[in-house]
Amino acid sequence: MKTRVADLDFELLIPYEQLEKRIREIAKQIGEDFEGRSPIIAGILTGSFLFVADLVKNLDIPVEVTFTKLASYFGGTASTRKIRDDFDLTIDIKGRHLILVEDIVDTGNTLHYLVDKLRVREPATITVCTLLLKPNAIEVSIEELKYVGFEIDNQFVVGYGLDYREQGRSLMGIYQRVG
Ligand code: IMP
Ligand code: MG
Repeated sequence: MKTRVADLDFELLIPYEQLEKRIREIAKQIGEDFEGRSPIIAGILTGSFLFVADLVKNLDIPVEVTFTKLASYFGGTASTRKIRDDFDLTIDIKGRHLILVEDIVDTGNTLHYLVDKLRVREPATITVCTLLLKPNAIEVSIEELKYVGFEIDNQFVVGYGLDYREQGRSLMGIYQRVG
């Protein structure tokens, strides 16, 4: 299936049914790993909003849900490596189990910045969960990365929360750039 977002062409890479199935598996794993611990699920906006929603719907442990907002792409198709901190977590995370939920880990710079920033607030643990990972794009390794939905090639993708120039977030599937 093909689609156009702004001035670029994309084709379907991961249909929503496959995302749903994988998210159910991740939720089950998190439920087992954090049984009896009531973690804080902190989504990184904007890209993770649909993933966080589907993930928490499938969790069978009590969780708190909150968000922080960072930006790093600024309308292009490659990471600028500059991070803009738009809004911070408002929940006190001291002594708590924190699960950061990201749409995609590309260079790893965004998560590295965020984990460093949050560590000084002394959460009991920090764990990272990402729907997508581009293993060949990683520049900074993230020790806290424990849950990965899908590994993809080093190509630009949109859909299911991810955007190109703020468009394409509502596509129900992951679409990769063609041409
Ligand atoms: P990193 O700091 O290079 O790891 O980039 C992480 C952020 O860049 C992600 O949270 C996304 O918001 C954005 N990003 C990375 N790759 C893509 C992509 O292929 N499509 C859309 N956004 C992306
Ligand atoms: Mg993001």
